[in-house]
Amino acid sequence: MIRVEDLCFTYPGGTVALDGVSLEVPEGSFLAIMGANGSGKSTLLKHLNGLLATQAGSVHIADIEVNGKSFDEVNRIVGFVFQDPNDQIFAPTVREDIGYGPRNLGLDEVEIARRVEKAAGQVAITELLDRPIHHLSYGQKKRLSIAGVLAMEPRVLVLDEPTASLDPMGERRLMRLLHELNRGGMTVVMATHDVDLVPLYARQVCLLRAGRLAVSGGLREVFGDQELIERCHLRLPRISYLFEMFPELSELPLTVGMARRKLEELLERGDTGPVSPVELCEN
Ligand SMILES: Nc1ncnc2c1ncn2[C@@H]1O[C@H](COP(=O)(O)OP(=O)(O)OP(=O)(O)O)[C@@H](O)[C@H]1O
Ligand SMILES: [Mg+2]
Repeated sequence: MIRVEDLCFTYPGGTVALDGVSLEVPEGSFLAIMGANGSGKSTLLKHLNGLLATQAGSVHIADIEVNGKSFDEVNRIVGFVFQDPNDQIFAPTVREDIGYGPRNLGLDEVEIARRVEKAAGQVAITELLDRPIHHLSYGQKKRLSIAGVLAMEPRVLVLDEPTASLDPMGERRLMRLLHELNRGGMTVVMATHDVDLVPLYARQVCLLRAGRLAVSGGLREVFGDQELIERCHLRLPRISYLFEMFPELSELPLTVGMARRKLEELLERGDTGPVSPVELCEN
């Protein structure tokens, strides 16, 4: 669904943000992009829908090369949620902001209203629909920016740190929603610093380090290399505590079902140690 080949990008002023990044994301995958501040995550994501034009290398979405000519076509496939919601929302009210994209698609008013209600419900902002956007808190703006993209019903959802600044329930709710959408066939790509969420939801992880891909692969490949994790300014997810408690797990690919059973065993013993109390979800 997404093919990035040898992508390089230098900002005016000379900062090299991406230096030869190649990546393939199959349709229906759930990819987490991780890495230190300034490692190039947002820059990479902005290439996936043509917000930044490629300088060297290429990006293909569903076999369409992303460039100025394909911008509209690509944007019907890829929904992009900005790191800062203030970069994205602009209409006078929440309802108008969510409806903006569907209206631009030329949909009729009944369908626009249906999509607005559905997307607002998905991120729990139905009661805010008639509020002016400048009266919203930062986290509410974040939810609104996600709703506006969901209302476009994209095949690929790209989110730049979507859980940052959400309250814990909002975070869990959003991750469950992304999980559901992914199970329904949507390809999800998300930049995040939240190492505890990643093993629960993502199937593919890529780690960026100073604009280069340090590693890309499944959860075990990426989180199996503790030295690399630390070099990339990350830490192991708290769920790794399970590996310490149950050495036999390290021989097996970690599944969420298995982690859940082990977590239940620990809970029964009254000993969850540093395991974060996130609600586990089938993967
Ligand atoms: N508009 C810009 N102009 C010049 N340099 C930029 C611009 N945006 C980002 N950079 C630089 O490019 C590099 C990569 O930035 P990017 O925003 O992609 O990092 P990031 O991994 O998303 O970081 P964070 O975790 O803080 O969001 C950094 O060195 C940053 O300072
Ligand atoms: Mg960023």
